[in-house]
Amino acid sequence: MYMIQKIDKISQVLKNDVIMWRRHFHRHPELSNQEKETSLRIQKILKSFNISFRKAAETGIVAEIKGKSRKIIGLRADMDALPVKEETGLDFASENQGIMHACGHDAHMAIALGVMAVFSKLQDLPFSLRCIFQPAEESVPCGAPRMIKEGVLEEMRYLIGFHVWVGLETGSFSVIKGPVMASADRFSILIRGKGGHGASPHKTIDPIVAASHFITQLQTIVSRKSDPQNPLVVSVGRVSGGDAFNVIPEQVEILGTVRTFDHKQNVLAERNIRKLLKGIEAGFGVKTHIDYEGFVPVTYNDPGLAEKVASILSSSFGNRSVITDEKPIMGSEDFSFYSKVIPCCYIKIGCGKSEYFHHSNKFTIDERCLDTGVRAISKILWGIGSLPS
Ligand code: NI
Repeated sequence: MYMIQKIDKISQVLKNDVIMWRRHFHRHPELSNQEKETSLRIQKILKSFNISFRKAAETGIVAEIKGKSRKIIGLRADMDALPVKEETGLDFASENQGIMHACGHDAHMAIALGVMAVFSKLQDLPFSLRCIFQPAEESVPCGAPRMIKEGVLEEMRYLIGFHVWVGLETGSFSVIKGPVMASADRFSILIRGKGGHGASPHKTIDPIVAASHFITQLQTIVSRKSDPQNPLVVSVGRVSGGDAFNVIPEQVEILGTVRTFDHKQNVLAERNIRKLLKGIEAGFGVKTHIDYEGFVPVTYNDPGLAEKVASILSSSFGNRSVITDEKPIMGSEDFSFYSKVIPCCYIKIGCGKSEYFHHSNKFTIDERCLDTGVRAISKILWGIGSLPS
């Protein structure tokens, strides 16, 4: 109990600093893999608390507070902003034209720094704490695999990830067991026909008509081939082909994504997409080519760890503040790569009800979530670190 009160006390002192850090990050957002100023700012703050760190994946940082044992508990925060033109009207709105912290990663860095600052003031930690500041969560290729390659998970026992979450009241949390976010595959399809005059379709092989049939058939994979009890999303995000109203083009390109919680579903989707393309070739006389790649796996919460995290949060914030029966979402997150390697738990931290969701140009957070976040994550790390090994 003593340590929990100490964490609250130190967090209270740091509260305004954490808000200032977040506002600074918000004012100076940087895109994926370009987080240079962001990285420097993190380094400066870590230095001011005498926390040691090393760089990884160019703009990433791995900070470590060594305790009495080499039992390492990890925390991960993402660093990148989005190519969004901010319209919040905040007085600390983005100064970088067309770039905005529209997902809340500014808050993630501030919370993680707050947590590290808290632990830097605790003596004789029974475990060691490592914080991964990871670049490029939003882009492809994403930052997590690079950080793993650079050894950030070495000797690490557990890793905690989190996201501030709009729609969840400040002071509330969501922790679920098993899948939290879906896997994401990406496909790129080329349908090649024979171009010609729009007035003489019989002298062409029209890839636009073939592509249109393919796109409508694609949804039958979800409605007719997939087990309705096992989630699957197939979406086309981009179709491009043709230049003029009266010319039938040579080819059409289709880009899309497949989301699932179960690898069997990815296999089913890919196999059926390929089958449908064969059918389109036979029926329309076009040639098709597909590149299908898995790019983010399922984000998976270790059940035992998630249970421990939920109980730590409940004892500190009350049972009603901790949601444990939320459904996983079909969005994806590159935290998943870590969860494939070691036991992980990804938590949602409520940042208020707003009509503007993440990635909106009017996205804002209730800044009280920063202090809640620092306390919650610190207590979780303390609780997990103190588990008997
Ligand atoms: Ni995000």
